[in-house]
Amino acid sequence: MPVNRKILAALGSAVLALSMAACSGEGAGSGGNDGDKPADLTIGVSMPTQTSERWIADGNSVKEKLEAKGYKVDLQYAGDDIPTQSQQVDQMITRGADVLIIAAIDGTALSGQLQAAADAKIPVIAYDRLIRDSPNVDFYVSFDNFKVGVAQATALLVGLGVQTKDGAKGEAKGPFNVELFAGSLDDNNAHFFFNGAMETLKPFIDDGTLKVKSGQTAIDKVAILRWQQEGAQKRMEDLLTSSYNDGTKVDGVLSPYDGLSRGIITALQNAGYRGAEFPVVTGQDAEIASVKLIDDGVQSSTIFKDTRLLAEQAVIAGEAFLTDKTPQANDTETYNNGVKVVPSYLLPVQTVYKDDIKPVLIDSGYFTAEEVAAGQAG
Ligand code: GAL
Repeated sequence: MPVNRKILAALGSAVLALSMAACSGEGAGSGGNDGDKPADLTIGVSMPTQTSERWIADGNSVKEKLEAKGYKVDLQYAGDDIPTQSQQVDQMITRGADVLIIAAIDGTALSGQLQAAADAKIPVIAYDRLIRDSPNVDFYVSFDNFKVGVAQATALLVGLGVQTKDGAKGEAKGPFNVELFAGSLDDNNAHFFFNGAMETLKPFIDDGTLKVKSGQTAIDKVAILRWQQEGAQKRMEDLLTSSYNDGTKVDGVLSPYDGLSRGIITALQNAGYRGAEFPVVTGQDAEIASVKLIDDGVQSSTIFKDTRLLAEQAVIAGEAFLTDKTPQANDTETYNNGVKVVPSYLLPVQTVYKDDIKPVLIDSGYFTAEEVAAGQAG
């Protein structure tokens, strides 16, 4: 166990000492020796789901990078089930994790686990999704999520021709019929994405360039629980039935995540949209199936968040805690989790249109040309 935690444990109450003892055992947290070697330390990595390819890539990246440094890794996926994630984190603590890296399913559901982690002096790093309403979050690694929303809305405007890629006014005047989607309301990011997007779209909605024909513009009306593709498909189908059964066409859809975009695209294709009249659909994460859809001219754009860099930052932060240092934040203002501002390391994002696939995704080694052509990684 790193020194500061040892000292704190020694200074702590008898209850704390007991709880520390209770966490002892085979696990790395039990060591208590100065100068622990990486092989004596375990990092618990809790990921939300394996249904989305990005979280598999995130989990693998974090694991590989930590193992390359010699640490032990306890990686668990929770199948998008909140009780499963709570239980997995509980187990990581009792097995003696020295640091926890957590991408929460519901950002408010882990308070009990985080309290147990704090009692055992286990630092907690929130991974991409902020954990809310708890003082026991020590660091946050993510992207500038408001800017992701701005980038998504901008990509919608560019796709429609209302704006050019360099931010100038485009030729197209509209009016265009657009529909809006948001992510899961229990994910803090969903709000940042939607707020960033709405701030960008509002002037165009106000001046009539964009019309949200369904009238659904509030986040709680457009959110898709657990970011599920099927949920997005169903809502798009419902929108087509309720608001576009008079022959009018949808011109664009703001989608905050590639999985939702694929559901939206399926609904549009099933309704007969094809070719040039196919609506502009945005996305996020550069998931391989969606990169192929962009390459094929079906999806318009995605926002690339390099999971290799995110994993790298999580590892840097984890290692800092394990060596009794404070991880370096580059943002100490933006992410208030309801109890405190969590020091954060935020990475930049990049919009990817068809022309960007090669320079941004293939040339950087994120995907091979073959993977893009097949729409499948690995
Ligand atoms: C968010 C994340 C997005 C996307 C979404 C669905 O928390 O920031 O990039 O992955 O979850 O998985």
